[in-house]
Amino acid sequence: MITKRLKTIADLIPKDSSVIDIGTDHAYLPIYLYQNNISKDITATDVSQNVLKSSLNNLTKYNLNNKISLVLADGFKNIGKIYDVAVIAGMGTSTIKKILDTKKLPEILIIQSNNDHYELRKYMQDLGYKITKEVVIKDGKHYYVIIKYERGSDNLSESELLFGKSQNKEYFKYLIEQFNYIHSKSQDKQYLNYINILQSIIEKIPENY
Ligand SMILES: C[S@@+](CC[C@H](N)C(=O)[O-])C[C@H]1O[C@@H](n2cnc3c(N)ncnc32)[C@H](O)[C@@H]1O
Repeated sequence: MITKRLKTIADLIPKDSSVIDIGTDHAYLPIYLYQNNISKDITATDVSQNVLKSSLNNLTKYNLNNKISLVLADGFKNIGKIYDVAVIAGMGTSTIKKILDTKKLPEILIIQSNNDHYELRKYMQDLGYKITKEVVIKDGKHYYVIIKYERGSDNLSESELLFGKSQNKEYFKYLIEQFNYIHSKSQDKQYLNYINILQSIIEKIPENY
C-alpha cells in the first residue's frame, strides 16, 4: 500500500519519536509508522473535513482509529502539543511556508515539497533549520525531493540552495535535459548557467555512488 515516496519519508523518522503528519490525506504514512513500530504516538491532520473521512475509513479498516489521533486542523493551528517530528509532504512550498508560520515547530521536520525547492531551502535556513539528509527518489514517472531538517544553522552555497544536497546523478542528468529543452525554447542564458552548475555537481559525485 505504501508508495516508495512515503516509505522513504518513513525511513527518515527516528524510532519511537512522536510524529505529526500534517496534510495526511489517506493516512497511509501514519498507518505504516504504527504497523511497523516506528512510532506509537502519531497524530494525523488535514485541513479538509472530506479528506478526513477517507483517512478515518482507512484507520477503521486497519483497526487503528483509537491508536492514531485524527485532527481537523489548518497546519499547526488547534495543535496543542509540540511533537518530535513533523512531516509535511505532497504540497507546494508556498503552502508549506504558511504551515511553518507557527511557534509549535518540532526539532525535526521532514518536508517533501512539489515545487520551488530553492525557495524552500532558503526559507528553512532562515528559520533556523539545517539539512541533515536530502534524498531524491524516482517513484513512477516523478522525481521527489525529500529533505530532513533539524534545528541548527546552515550556510548553503548557491548551488546547494538551487539543487540541494542529494547525490542522485540520474536526477541531476534529468534536470540538465529539462534545462537544455527550456533553453532551446527560450534562449534564456540562466539555464546554461544551471547546466554548468549541475555538471560540476555531477563531477564531484563519487563513481560508485
Ligand atoms: C497531495 S495531499 C498529500 C498527502 C500526503 N501528505 C502525502 O504526501 O501523500 C495534500 C494534503 O494536504 C492537505 N492540506 C493542504 N493544506 C493544508 C494545511 N494548511 N493544513 C493541513 N492540511 C493541508 C490537503 O487537504 C491534502 O489532503
